[in-house]
Amino acid sequence: MHWSSLILTFGAAAAVSNHSCIGTKAVSANCQSSENAMVRDFFYIGGEYVYESAYSSSIYSDQMYVEKLVRATGANETNPIVLINAGVPSGAAWLNTPDNRKGWASYFVEKGYIVYIVDITSVARSSQEQIAIYPMKIASTVTITEDDYTAPQLIDPYPQSVNHTQWPGNGTQGDPYFDAFMAAMIPLTSNTTSQELSMRSAGCTLLSMIGIESYIISHSAGATYPTLMSDQCPDLIKGNINLEPGNTPFQNLVGNSTVPAVGYSAARACGLTATLVEYDPPITNCSQLETVVVGVDTPGNRSCYMQTSPARQLPNIAKVPYVAITGAASPHITYDHCTIAYLNQAGVATDWIKLGDIGIEGNGHFLYLEKNNLVIAGVVKQWIKEN
Ligand SMILES: *[C@@H]1O[C@H](CO)[C@@H](O)[C@H](O)[C@H]1NC(C)=O
Ligand SMILES: *[C@@H]1O[C@H](CO)[C@@H](O)[C@H](O)[C@H]1NC(C)=O
Ligand SMILES: *[C@@H]1O[C@H](CO)[C@@H](O)[C@H](O)[C@H]1NC(C)=O
Ligand SMILES: *[C@@H]1O[C@H](CO)[C@@H](O)[C@H](O)[C@H]1NC(C)=O
Ligand SMILES: *[C@@H]1O[C@H](CO)[C@@H](O)[C@H](O)[C@H]1NC(C)=O
Ligand SMILES: *[C@@H]1O[C@H](CO)[C@@H](O)[C@H](O)[C@H]1NC(C)=O
Ligand SMILES: *[C@@H]1O[C@H](CO)[C@@H](O)[C@H](O)[C@H]1NC(C)=O
Ligand SMILES: *[C@@H]1O[C@H](CO)[C@@H](O)[C@H](O)[C@H]1NC(C)=O
Repeated sequence: MHWSSLILTFGAAAAVSNHSCIGTKAVSANCQSSENAMVRDFFYIGGEYVYESAYSSSIYSDQMYVEKLVRATGANETNPIVLINAGVPSGAAWLNTPDNRKGWASYFVEKGYIVYIVDITSVARSSQEQIAIYPMKIASTVTITEDDYTAPQLIDPYPQSVNHTQWPGNGTQGDPYFDAFMAAMIPLTSNTTSQELSMRSAGCTLLSMIGIESYIISHSAGATYPTLMSDQCPDLIKGNINLEPGNTPFQNLVGNSTVPAVGYSAARACGLTATLVEYDPPITNCSQLETVVVGVDTPGNRSCYMQTSPARQLPNIAKVPYVAITGAASPHITYDHCTIAYLNQAGVATDWIKLGDIGIEGNGHFLYLEKNNLVIAGVVKQWIKEN
């Protein structure tokens, strides 16, 4: 007994002194975990049988992989937290960071929350064989990852990027933490229609089966799904927390405003979503939304699509408390105001926490993975306590 605990202690001490347990090296059987003690269950939620004539049989499709984590001593907070990934990478990224520090799942588990991690429908552990419905595309290349997420300061596509300091490592190919991050990138479907419909359905099925009003924390393009779930089942959602929401109204914006087709492209015909949500007065086709471009498009502050006045309202989405959180040196600091303005115009009250305004500097797009990820988790916990 004493002998084995001596070995463990020695191993951990040696690891700290020679850095052999940093990043992916921690996979070594000689390394100890920095995770909390927790219990885990997994489930597949939602979906249905679909007949595939090519196989003369049915497959099960549109389901969502869900992992439930609770600290070993039991949860003490009432309202659970559901973590929704963007798809770049999978839900596994909530567990720990590319340099193998503690992730947000561990943080909230440790604080006493029941935490659910999902893989969004059709990707990762929720992958599909329905080729006609879920064609796949690359989620991120080295260039996209370096320029938009991990090292924008090297090309300065927008003025705020000079302040980006929070990514662990140098943020380019060859750096072990960057390589670990890239290795976790998974393909995404290019069919936003099927993905939105299946996430709307499986997402609300999950919330209803959880059985207690939950907080949803989403990242980037993952913010599309709590928008749809807020429309479909608002009474099951305690709060909608969006880390750099990627469902910018009517367009995708990356990096540089001055380069059409590089800097922006049309997206989401229904504003925040590609598929229909309930507007008041109602619409039957998203082409009925009338829009106007507002603001001067500059690299540091992008122009936005708004509705023409009087704007149709989003009555279901307005029922759910909403907060967006944006890093000071991320591309999103140049355009998240578009999402906030669109929601407000449609009658949705919002909080918007710009991390730079509360003294948290240097963050890029991956708030939950960067060096100060647990400081930002604390900001979210504070918002939860106040809402
Ligand atoms: C570094 O730590 C590992 C794991 O504890 C150990 O096996 C190895 O001998 C150490 N290497 C050096 C050079 O100290
Ligand atoms: C739950 O436990 C955490 C950590 O042990 C503590 O900080 C928190 O205040 C507790 N929450 C409640 C509601 O008691
Ligand atoms: C951004 O636009 C400027 C001015 O047109 C150009 O010099 C720069 O190369 C562009 N950067 C990217 C990343 O496209
Ligand atoms: C960089 O950060 C500093 C300190 O917060 C700030 O004063 C400055 O305006 C930032 N630069 C840009 C271009 O955003
Ligand atoms: C980042 O680190 C890797 C590995 O040391 C190196 O190959 C690469 O050139 C570095 N990139 C920059 C921009 O310094
Ligand atoms: C996308 O998904 C929708 C809904 O499942 C389906 O009707 C459509 O055929 C799909 N389109 C493509 C291009 O796969
Ligand atoms: C919606 O309107 C557009 C533009 O008028 C049209 O092309 C499209 O077929 C309509 N969609 C449906 C489902 O009616
Ligand atoms: C950024 O542009 C929006 C319009 O898109 C405008 O309302 C806002 O005041 C601008 N912000 C800054 C800091 O210039």
